[in-house]
Amino acid sequence: MRVLITGVSGMLGATLATMLAKEHEVFGTGNSNYDEQPKNYKVLDLNSENYQDIITWSKPEIIVLSGALTNGNYCNNNPDEAFSINGISVKKFAEATNKNVKFIYISTDAVFPSALHLAKETDCVFPENVYGKSKELGEFFTKLSDREFCIIRTTIVGLNLNSKKAGFVEWIINASKKAEEISLFDDVVFNPISIWELGEEIKHIISLKDFPNEIVHISGTEIVTKYEFGMELLKRLNLDTTTIKSGLISSFKDRAKRCNDQTLNCNYYQEKYKRKLPKLADTLQTINQYYEADKIRK
Ligand SMILES: NC(=O)c1ccc[n+]([C@@H]2O[C@H](COP(=O)([O-])OP(=O)(O)OC[C@H]3O[C@@H](n4cnc5c(N)ncnc54)[C@H](OP(=O)(O)O)[C@@H]3O)[C@@H](O)[C@H]2O)c1
Repeated sequence: MRVLITGVSGMLGATLATMLAKEHEVFGTGNSNYDEQPKNYKVLDLNSENYQDIITWSKPEIIVLSGALTNGNYCNNNPDEAFSINGISVKKFAEATNKNVKFIYISTDAVFPSALHLAKETDCVFPENVYGKSKELGEFFTKLSDREFCIIRTTIVGLNLNSKKAGFVEWIINASKKAEEISLFDDVVFNPISIWELGEEIKHIISLKDFPNEIVHISGTEIVTKYEFGMELLKRLNLDTTTIKSGLISSFKDRAKRCNDQTLNCNYYQEKYKRKLPKLADTLQTINQYYEADKIRK
């Protein structure tokens, strides 16, 4: 199948492009060039009006919409840009393609408020910041697009293939290696899944004869605080844990409001699609495997 993926210079998109390329003809876009970019890669600013060139080039049967502005503070300070890139871009892809082209939209736990623990697909969304609102808009345009779709709400952790980038996991690892103290929230809970494990689920969804046409929650099956995750990660990677200090989100001011309960209930997806989602130990083991492989490559 011909698959176009947005956000390929980002954490999830880069790995997804590599994983899907084993079975599909993959085309990737991002907002910048980078050394490790795949061969079928072009820059497309999702803020632009001209999506037609990318569609003519890639002729997709499926588009995985992973490109987004993910920095909550930046989104809060630049709401028009956040709504355009995370939301209105989906409408532009719908206008630029015919209705046979399927959409997989990568959404987030951030569409839910803190008051919800283990949010289900049937729970009402109520984003508490601009990032969450802009992703809700992306979900809206996906459903409105009048084609087969799947909206995946998730909470991901992983490593960047793009060496210009560093995310949450790299931040924890790098601080430990440089013996720099960092503070991780012990009052924020989530149930993360690795980008590789989520990639396997996306592969499965693409292979389905009957496309889901619904929202599904796909994440890990165990809940931890951000602090506990950091400690367990460093232990699994045999790195020094003394660099991590326990902090509280409640003591952070001057930043975009972030939920302190980011948990998603994934029972519906597991039961309906007969899939077994990972426990924390599986996720840490997967990160360790790619971390070790990365060390050898470098
Ligand atoms: N990371 C998380 O914790 C998390 C949790 C839940 C859901 N999600 C969702 O999962 C998806 C992937 O997240 P991620 O962590 O892989 O994100 P990421 O590493 O921040 O990557 C974002 C990607 O979007 C691209 N992008 C940003 N602005 C753009 C623009 N104007 N035009 C075109 N592309 C643009 C970036 O391109 P450049 O880098 O080239 O600028 C990059 O390729 C996102 O949709 C996000 O909302 C993420």
